[in-house]
Amino acid sequence: MNTLAVKVENLVLQFDDFKAVNNISFNVQKGEIFGFLGANGAGKTTTIRVLCGLLIPTSGSVEVAGISFNIEGNADLIKAKVGYMSQKFTLYNDLTVEENISFTASLRKLPREYYEKRKKELFDFISFNKPANTKVSDLAGGMKQQVSLAASILHEPEILFLDEPTAGVSSAARQKFWDLIKSLAKEGKTIFVTSHYMDEVEQCDRIALMSNGELIALDSPAGLKAKTFPQPLYELDSKQSLSNQELESIKALKYFESFESYGHRYHASPINLSKWNEFKSLYGDLFNIREINPTLEDVFIRLVEGQDK
Ligand SMILES: Nc1ncnc2c1ncn2[C@@H]1O[C@H](COP(=O)(O)OP(=O)(O)O)[C@@H](O)[C@H]1O
Ligand SMILES: [Mg+2]
Repeated sequence: MNTLAVKVENLVLQFDDFKAVNNISFNVQKGEIFGFLGANGAGKTTTIRVLCGLLIPTSGSVEVAGISFNIEGNADLIKAKVGYMSQKFTLYNDLTVEENISFTASLRKLPREYYEKRKKELFDFISFNKPANTKVSDLAGGMKQQVSLAASILHEPEILFLDEPTAGVSSAARQKFWDLIKSLAKEGKTIFVTSHYMDEVEQCDRIALMSNGELIALDSPAGLKAKTFPQPLYELDSKQSLSNQELESIKALKYFESFESYGHRYHASPINLSKWNEFKSLYGDLFNIREINPTLEDVFIRLVEGQDK
């Protein structure tokens, strides 16, 4: 049995002579919550648009829900198997909730009876308790996103692509949205999601980190942290602000694999124990020091900014 929802090999997507996606390869397992992380312009949306059958790969091979892209006409088959909530808001504000869902159903050519039954299920699923003829413009941001999610799964897709679905939504509504995502994954749906919120990405089974069109890391949240920080990570809280000269000499002496500043605090990962001891004997008095667990933000900063150095 094929356990892969998505299989990407050496995918390149070029706009004119610019490679927005530059030779990436990865697989997504069925039922997985797969997170896509990266700065603006990294190539996340472009990759998703390829996987939804909206952009044709420049080269490389892509298989989604067991369907290969390279055969003409398959893009339409793929569209039937995937749901897509695009980064831009996808509902019509001046239509009612009912009209939006019904419009989506007609685009997908869903039979009337199926639509009526499914609509009820979906309203239950998102706990929608307003009249169906409420205008979308009268809904709160979090509820709009939930209705948009409902519209994207109207046709019961196997794989759901969510591109920054919670951008700008309140934190309570974000958590509710993620509870919905998780219950879909429990039913066996595959979720492919991008987000800038580290607390959200933390809830993914695996995370792919993209930078400048390339995939620079792929692992579980715990795996990413362990691989990126094989040495312990310390927070150095400077007792008084450091002079530039002090900072420069600490960096120049190369005690650390990474040394990132967060205001007057620094997150530092020593190269090895003897370097760490040497640092502490020379500079230890300047800081309050404690060992910390790396966050995904530490990982992101280390890997993405480390690339530019
Ligand atoms: N239709 C397009 N034509 C030309 N360049 C594009 C087009 N769409 C996206 N790009 C460029 O491709 C790069 C990746 O964009 P995108 O996939 O939207 O990144 P992300 O979603 O990670 O922010 C960016 O430099 C963007 O400007
Ligand atoms: Mg994007």
